[in-house]
Amino acid sequence: MDLSSKRARLFVTSGMAVVCLGLAASSFAQTAQAPAGPSAAKIAVENRRAAFTLIGNSFRWFGAAAKGAAPYDEAEAKKRASRIGFLVNFLDDAFPEDSNLGEPASKAKGDAWTNRADFEKKLAAFKANARAFEQTVANEKGATDGFKAAVASLGQDCKGCHDSYKLK
Ligand code: HEC
Repeated sequence: MDLSSKRARLFVTSGMAVVCLGLAASSFAQTAQAPAGPSAAKIAVENRRAAFTLIGNSFRWFGAAAKGAAPYDEAEAKKRASRIGFLVNFLDDAFPEDSNLGEPASKAKGDAWTNRADFEKKLAAFKANARAFEQTVANEKGATDGFKAAVASLGQDCKGCHDSYKLK
């Protein structure tokens, strides 16, 4: 092998080393720059959807108990109402400005942000009513008229907000 071909090989080898280093550096940079997890907006959407799923699953029984389709049970009623009272805490910061992600990430309508004052009013009323509901359920201790009225009223909050601010 003559000197020039040795040089050429050296050049190729060192060139490859540079490329490898470059790749390693860029993949390191990508790892270093990759966000630690989902964005704050995405987490807000996940939290509200999770909270609403649990609220819905906890509330469903009340509808059945109020109609007489499920037998009333005091312990069951108290447990479910207290869960709903707690779960609404997750809605405090669940609709930040930048979390209007649209479908498929979210089923919240853009109107929840454009009609902000009305949406927040409905949300605040729902949170207060959900906490009052817990108290009413504890006081009524049965499928009384008061219990049925409270269930219907909280159910109206769900429907009232969904009709305006939730996609089907
Ligand atoms: C102030 C408005 C508001 C009220 C009150 C409200 N919701 Fe919702 N709910 C929403 C919005 C907006 C969404 C869509 C959230 C998203 O996808 O980003 C939603 C989503 C849901 C979901 C779907 C969760 C999922 O992602 O699968 C369920 C179930 C639900 N709500 C149940 C209820 C029940 C039950 C009540 C009443 C006890 C209620 N909601 C009250 C606004 C409301």
